[in-house]
Amino acid sequence: MEQNNIKTEELEKNISAELKSFKSDLAKADSFSSLENIRTKYLGKKSYLSVMQKSIGTLPNDLKPIVGKNTNLLRQNIEGSLEEKEKNLKASEIDREMRKESVDLSLPGRLISSGTKNILSKVVEDIEEIFIGMGFEIAEGPEIETDYYNFEALNTPEDHPARSLHDTMFVSDHVLLRTQTSPVQIRYMEENEPPIAIIVPGRVYRKDYDISHTPMFTQVEGLVVDENINFGNLKWTLETFVREMFGKDRMVRFRPHYFPFTEPSAEVDISCNICDGKGCRVCSGTGWLEILGAGIVDPKLYSFVKYDPERFTGFAFGMGVERISMLKYGINDLRLFFENDLRFVKQF
Ligand code: PHE
Repeated sequence: MEQNNIKTEELEKNISAELKSFKSDLAKADSFSSLENIRTKYLGKKSYLSVMQKSIGTLPNDLKPIVGKNTNLLRQNIEGSLEEKEKNLKASEIDREMRKESVDLSLPGRLISSGTKNILSKVVEDIEEIFIGMGFEIAEGPEIETDYYNFEALNTPEDHPARSLHDTMFVSDHVLLRTQTSPVQIRYMEENEPPIAIIVPGRVYRKDYDISHTPMFTQVEGLVVDENINFGNLKWTLETFVREMFGKDRMVRFRPHYFPFTEPSAEVDISCNICDGKGCRVCSGTGWLEILGAGIVDPKLYSFVKYDPERFTGFAFGMGVERISMLKYGINDLRLFFENDLRFVKQF
């Protein structure tokens, strides 16, 4: 009996030591895998508990119930604690997931600044829309051109004074950056029979750089060819365009001019909207602003495109888009179009 008391005491000590060790391990466990390790350590086949419980059969009869009871209590305690810990771990994991996915609706939104259309693109679209309304179609042509289309077929042979050499940027002997959109007149007439009514927006290039010139700028060409086309049709078309573009009370004036591919030719002015025609710095005191060149298609062009000059007549015009944008929006510096300063770009 004395002996068994000692054994019982020792058993209780061991069990409480095991329990203490288990609790301290459990407190440190912060993942499911560490929890599994603990389970194996305290409940596995080689654990103190399993070994003890397995040995019960070999113990003296009076010890059997004591060991049985104590080890059972220990097992219940360990299993219960593990279960509880597992529940806690699961809960905090869900919590973590939720926090990761949660959206804070009170946060201010991120500002996404959107791009804007360049003012030149916008004005080209405005011009296109007006002419489309009058039945025109849009055509395009290459920016790298041959001498033939840019000059020759536009009645500007090699020795022609209008071929001011230092204006043209050559790529090679007979290849150049087009100095005007007029070569598309020829290209279009080669491919199409009258009646035609087209406008041609595009970039053109000239060796020129100062306050009112940039080496690249934008033109819109116009060409109408049919039977019985006359100067009156040209006037009406351009006057209609000017009123739509600049407003009903703009006045339009045709001044005699010269272009190799139109005859007769004219430059077209609109009344200055800064001084209302009285004369100011912008219009150099004249009250007028030049916006385009135009004229009746010189019949010589028809021989290049095999049109019958006895049957067909036409008119053509070409305008500078930067110029028109400046006048319409009161922009006073040409360079603003190409510098892409956001403060400028975003104004339109
Ligand atoms: N191409 C001429 C220029 O660039 C403008 C123009 C086009 C004139 C069509 C008459 C007819 O100056």
